[in-house]
Amino acid sequence: MVCALSSVEVCVESLDAFIDSLPKAELHLHLEGTLEPELAFELAARNGVKLRFPSVEALRQAYSFADLQSFLDVYYRVAAVLVTERDFRDLAAAYVARAAADGVKHAEVFFDPQTHTVRGVSMGTIVRGLQAGLTDAGAAHRVTTRLILCLLRHLPEDEALQTIDEAAPFGDAITAIGLDSSEVGHPPSKFARAFARARALGWHAVAHAGEEGPPAYVWEALEILRAERIDHGVRALEDSALVERLRRGRVPLTVCPLSNVKLRVFDRLEAHNLKGLLDQGLVVTINSDDPAYFGGYVGENYRRVAEALRLSRSEIAQLARNSFAASFLPDAEKRRWMAGIDRLEG
Ligand code: HPA
Ligand code: ZN
Repeated sequence: MVCALSSVEVCVESLDAFIDSLPKAELHLHLEGTLEPELAFELAARNGVKLRFPSVEALRQAYSFADLQSFLDVYYRVAAVLVTERDFRDLAAAYVARAAADGVKHAEVFFDPQTHTVRGVSMGTIVRGLQAGLTDAGAAHRVTTRLILCLLRHLPEDEALQTIDEAAPFGDAITAIGLDSSEVGHPPSKFARAFARARALGWHAVAHAGEEGPPAYVWEALEILRAERIDHGVRALEDSALVERLRRGRVPLTVCPLSNVKLRVFDRLEAHNLKGLLDQGLVVTINSDDPAYFGGYVGENYRRVAEALRLSRSEIAQLARNSFAASFLPDAEKRRWMAGIDRLEG
């Protein structure tokens, strides 16, 4: 790669090639958020479901959001096209193929069963379909995967408990419990019993916190839910004691830069605090959240944030190493991927 730039300028082209070459783990990805408009229309036709948008283009144009809630309103509406086991399999397989093209070697992905069970889709249909898609495409593209069941925090805790009970027979297919949906007004403490029940099943625990919600929600996720990773967590930087707690405990943050701009957590990528979080010694990772809605899969998140924040090669390599360190992979596998990144960094 020829890069005719002066030494002080970042050679964007070669940095992009370096990013492409890096093995990555993706740890914050909602499978329903990978539903591209084309597939949504195909599934709507297949299942006789009416999408209240006239065309693929009209649906894409609706992807302009004021905040998290305005996104969720569209996201839940489009997810209604997912009905059969085959739909869930197709969705998961399409994501794995797309992620593999970005150098993703391992993905720990969320699904929102309550979005579907409320429409009469059974837990078995959802889990079997997703599992089949992840396994088949994972084998074809050499990507390992884990499933994380997310509870919808805008719904009552009793429904979360019922969801966990419905999922328990499929417990071997599920690695962790998570918490997503509308954050403000629905603190992690609302789900203390649900997380305790999930942990008793042997599942790991993660939770969205500090995306729109205050640092107090991150504290609750750590102390009450015993979350091992914080999804987003960007508002943690407002509380120095919390930063210290996250740093000492090496609690990873799964940061989603393009999502944060689309949902107006930051008004532009240049204003994102990802570098500030890294500079505090936190285990920061880069992820795509809902890439069909937010304008880019994980590779695009790395490239755009590296350019906007002028990240160095070594910071980018650190982010990729962090993604494996923060995963639920066995230690030996983590070390193998991280050593590969060391070698690439040179
Ligand atoms: N935050 C909360 N809930 C979500 C998100 C998110 O970024 N994406 C899908 N559900
Ligand atoms: Zn998310």
